[in-house]
Amino acid sequence: MVTQKEERAKIERLRHRLIAWYQRNRRDLPWRSRTDPYAIWVSEIMLQQTRVAVVVNRYQAFMARFPTLFSLALAPEQEVLALWSGLGYYRRARMLHKAAQFVATNLQGNLPATSTELRALPGIGAYTAAAIASIAHGEPVAVVDGNVERVLCRLAGWQSDSRAGAAALRRKIEDLAGKLVDPQRSGDFNQALMELGATVCLPRNPLCLVCPVAGGCKTRGEHKTAPRPRMLSREVAHALSVRMGRSSGKAHGAVSREVLLEQRPAFRTVMPGLWELPVLRDSTVPETDLRMTVRHSIMQVNYYVRIRTVFEDDVEAMCEPAGKRRWVPLGEAAGMALTGLTRKVLSRTHLLPTASLDAIAPPQDADVL
Ligand code: ADE
Repeated sequence: MVTQKEERAKIERLRHRLIAWYQRNRRDLPWRSRTDPYAIWVSEIMLQQTRVAVVVNRYQAFMARFPTLFSLALAPEQEVLALWSGLGYYRRARMLHKAAQFVATNLQGNLPATSTELRALPGIGAYTAAAIASIAHGEPVAVVDGNVERVLCRLAGWQSDSRAGAAALRRKIEDLAGKLVDPQRSGDFNQALMELGATVCLPRNPLCLVCPVAGGCKTRGEHKTAPRPRMLSREVAHALSVRMGRSSGKAHGAVSREVLLEQRPAFRTVMPGLWELPVLRDSTVPETDLRMTVRHSIMQVNYYVRIRTVFEDDVEAMCEPAGKRRWVPLGEAAGMALTGLTRKVLSRTHLLPTASLDAIAPPQDADVL
């Protein structure tokens, strides 16, 4: 029988080891040098569903353009979406923008300080609210993301073999996280658990030999997880249509090339307002006309996307009219709110002057078509 006193001492030891490890081993990430809640909020929203390596660059560019909550609130949505490009899941950017406008208009620009009040803002769920409140204000609330779930399951020796028991397991994990969080240093404790999951307690081949809490871990290795849902496959085709520029204003007659882009209508539930290559009416592209095939994964769907070069004169006949179309100089396209797939295709065909973002983004970070 473990007494309550022993249990408390065990928790104290775990907190101490974990935080000491974090202080020695934490990665030097740009948001970790900031303490203002706005900067932490932006980083936590970007880090949802996107890997740290991808976020670092985008975070710096975003914060350079929108250094304060007011500067974000005052920006046009298209500019916010353009700076989100490459991170995917644009809904997060729209909600962040809306919430910044709400706080600027109704709360004099002061982001609420408690997790309960933060949760009332659009796009801020339990995870983000707890992260901001604990990191920026030291509120003793636990943050539970996917990494923390895995670390705690392994520590406690919990397995999950079916998706049916997922909700009950999640509740057990949240209870445990709430017991473990260090009330004196909740921000560091939460970040330490997330960092341990991201760098040591990895999904496959965890590095147990260097884990600071391996001594108290009931699994010490990989644990049983629920089977992944099967991926579905879909086929679509887009037109890549490029012409010599006709836009005026180029000095000394220099011409730039232009690409035909179409804006997804505002009523679409998926990525409204973003720009993409026009969709072909017929997705069966003959081999001779096939420019490239791109796999683009979104949630449970693998999209196999055929890209076909289409001459300007054939666009009307071959493309589905879906939204507003525009010939866009390639230099301008790079700064627009493009869909992830469109950016991927333009990068791979060397039509965008920027480095390929998809080279560093894992497939699951790709956004919706
Ligand atoms: N993942 C998401 N937010 C994080 C944070 N603040 N520290 C470590 N990993 C994270």
